[in-house]
Amino acid sequence: MTSLTGKKIIVVGGSSGIGFGVAAAVLEHGAEVVIVGRSEDKLKAAEKRFGTGRVTGIAADMAKEADIARLFDAVGAFDHLVATAGTPPPNDPIGQTDMDFVRRFVDSKLIGAVMLAKHAVRKLNKGGSMIFTSSINKDRPPVPGGSVVSAVAGSFSYFARALALELAPTRVNIVSPGWVDTEMWDEIVGEAKSGYFNEMGGCIPAGRIARPADIAPAYLYLMQNEFMTGETVHIDGGQRLV
Ligand SMILES: NC(=O)c1ccc[n+]([C@@H]2O[C@H](COP(=O)([O-])OP(=O)(O)OC[C@H]3O[C@@H](n4cnc5c(N)ncnc54)[C@H](OP(=O)(O)O)[C@@H]3O)[C@@H](O)[C@H]2O)c1
Repeated sequence: MTSLTGKKIIVVGGSSGIGFGVAAAVLEHGAEVVIVGRSEDKLKAAEKRFGTGRVTGIAADMAKEADIARLFDAVGAFDHLVATAGTPPPNDPIGQTDMDFVRRFVDSKLIGAVMLAKHAVRKLNKGGSMIFTSSINKDRPPVPGGSVVSAVAGSFSYFARALALELAPTRVNIVSPGWVDTEMWDEIVGEAKSGYFNEMGGCIPAGRIARPADIAPAYLYLMQNEFMTGETVHIDGGQRLV
């Protein structure tokens, strides 16, 4: 396992949720972190919460290639890219699909990942890695309304396998979380969140819904283990089993 002390790590989505948890974990391991999101206010609030000079926030929208190119030019050489950014997925039954919403979702989540990889390779140090985030929706699709998010989440495993071959020895991996208690759920279900979490938490082997700090070690492992590449790591408290 390699040390993260002094490494520079970009976390796209680091101002909230899973990404915030990853940024907190790599800071504990002595890394320097660049957190990326669209909202300057959220980035500033996150920088304040971290309370260390080793975090820099840079505003960029991963659906915009010019933003991504500018991001990597501004950061310069770095060691690991982590992408957790995402917005609530489309969830209408297929016959009522809003195609503009679907296109915006695919543009930021999947095309955004392709653009991150395209520009990251210009600046990634030898021995570095890229980690993208898919989800349990590929294994346990919501019904109805889960077809788009399931297709997008599933595609990440194949994206990583092909890219790991193309970019070797740079490593490319995926983390696939189950449900995690983040701000995204407040946006999707609001006050109904605790009801959903109690019900699902009671069903899954881990006995509760994950917090971001439960998921961050999967990203740490993929950064630090030089023999992991082209893989999808599932971290879901056994949710895929029920
Ligand atoms: N929470 C779960 O249960 C769960 C489970 C499995 C997988 N996931 C996946 O994990 C990802 C993160 O989820 P989360 O729960 O951590 O969400 P979250 O708490 O809402 O955080 C999302 C982060 O991504 C950033 N972001 C969103 N769109 C962006 C864009 N176009 N460009 C740059 N940054 C962007 C947000 O900042 P701005 O709003 O300022 O841009 C924020 O920092 C999502 O893709 C989700 O599908 C989540």
